[in-house]
Amino acid sequence: MTNKNILLLGIGLFLGIGVQAQKFEELALTPPMGWNSWNKFACDVNEEMIREIADGMVESGMKDAGYEYVVIDDCWHGGRDSLGFIYPDSTKFPNGMKALADYVHSKGLKLGIYSDAGTATCAGYPGSRGYEYQDALQYAEWGIDYLKYDWCNTENVNPIGAYSTMRDALHKAGRPIVFSMCEWGDNQPWEWAEDIGHMWRTTGDIFNCWDCKHDHGGYFSWGVTRIIDMQDGLRKYAGPGHWNDPDMLEVGNGMPVNEDRAHFSMWAMLAAPLIAGNDLRDMSPETIGILTNDEVIAVDQDSLGIQGFKYSSVDSLETWFKPLNNDEWAVCFFNRGEKPAEVNFDWGYEMVRDEIFGLEASFAEVTYSIRDLWKKQIVGKTKKVFKATVPSHDVVMLRLVPLK
Ligand code: GLA
Repeated sequence: MTNKNILLLGIGLFLGIGVQAQKFEELALTPPMGWNSWNKFACDVNEEMIREIADGMVESGMKDAGYEYVVIDDCWHGGRDSLGFIYPDSTKFPNGMKALADYVHSKGLKLGIYSDAGTATCAGYPGSRGYEYQDALQYAEWGIDYLKYDWCNTENVNPIGAYSTMRDALHKAGRPIVFSMCEWGDNQPWEWAEDIGHMWRTTGDIFNCWDCKHDHGGYFSWGVTRIIDMQDGLRKYAGPGHWNDPDMLEVGNGMPVNEDRAHFSMWAMLAAPLIAGNDLRDMSPETIGILTNDEVIAVDQDSLGIQGFKYSSVDSLETWFKPLNNDEWAVCFFNRGEKPAEVNFDWGYEMVRDEIFGLEASFAEVTYSIRDLWKKQIVGKTKKVFKATVPSHDVVMLRLVPLK
C-alpha cells in the first residue's frame, strides 16, 4: 500500500467510511418481553385496540412484571406516498403512528412494528425491499422501538444481505430499535445473525395446541411440543443480545390452564423472548397468573442469558435444567404425556453438567434449597430425594439455590 492509500484509508476510517455497521449492542440483554397482535388478531389491527392493549398491559400488572414492547404485526400499512414513504392505513390508524407511539410511551411502554424483507409482507402489504433506509428513517421518526422483519416474497433475495441491510439502516437512522428477525429458521440464522439481529425465529409459526401440526394448505404451523423439539441443538447460539425465538406465546388463547403453564415455563427454560399473543383487555385470572409469575419470568430473564437444556427423558417425562446467575439452577419436570408422571429425583446420584457453557451442579458436594415456582414456596433441599407428581401436559418447576 502506498503512503497515499494509507492516508486515504486513515481518513476513511476516521470518517466512518468502510467501518462495518453494527446493530444496537445495548438492547435485549435479556430476552425481550412484550405483546404482539398476530396470534390473536391476525390482520384485524387498529389504533384503538393497540391503545387498549397498552392500557391492559399496565392494568393487568404485566408492565410491572417486565413486559415492555407493544408490537403491531402485519396489516397496519396503507401504502407508499409519491416519494416512497410508507404510511399506515388511515381508517385503522386515523391519528397515525407518531401519535400512537406517543401514547404507548406515555404509559412507560414501547411500540413495535412489522415489515418484511421482500417486496410484500406475508399478508400482501408493501414490503421494505428497496426501501430499507427510507423505512428505517420513517420508523425512527415515528418513535418505533422494535421491528419484526419477516421473510415472505423474497425470491432470489440473500438472507444475510437482506437482514444486514435493514440492520445497517436501523443503525444509521439512529433510534435504538430491537431487530426481531423472522425467517422461520429457513436459513439457519443462528449461524450468522449474532451481529445482525437481537432475536431470530427458529421455526415456522406456533399454533394454539399442545402437540399438533396444522396444515394451512402449503405451509404448516406447530403446537407447543413440536416447537420445543425444534430447538434441539440451538442453545449454544443464544446469549445476551441475541436470542433464539421459538415464536410468540399462545397463553390465554384457548389451551387448558395446565398446557398454558407448561408452555410458559418451557419458554422461560429456553430463555425465549416472552411476547404474549392474547387479548390483554380480557384475561382470566389464571391467564394473568401465568403471564405475571415473577419467579418463572426471573428464570427467563436471568442475567447469565443461558438457554436451558434437556437433561433426561424417560417415557413422557422430560427433565430440563437451566444455569442461572450466582450458581443457581432452574429445573423443569415437563410431562408431555396423557397420564400423570411420578418424579423421584435423587440429586446425590445426578451430575448435571452444561458442557457448552462449562458449568456444573455437583449435588454430592453442594446442598441446594428447592423452591417450587408455581407453588411459590420452599419445598425441601437436595439432600433428600425429590418426589412429585406432574399432571398430564403440565410441569413442576423449581429453583435451586446453593446453601452456603
Ligand atoms: C408470518 C410470520 C407470523 C406473522 C405473519 C403475518 O407468517 O411468521 O409471525 O408475522 O407472517 O402475516
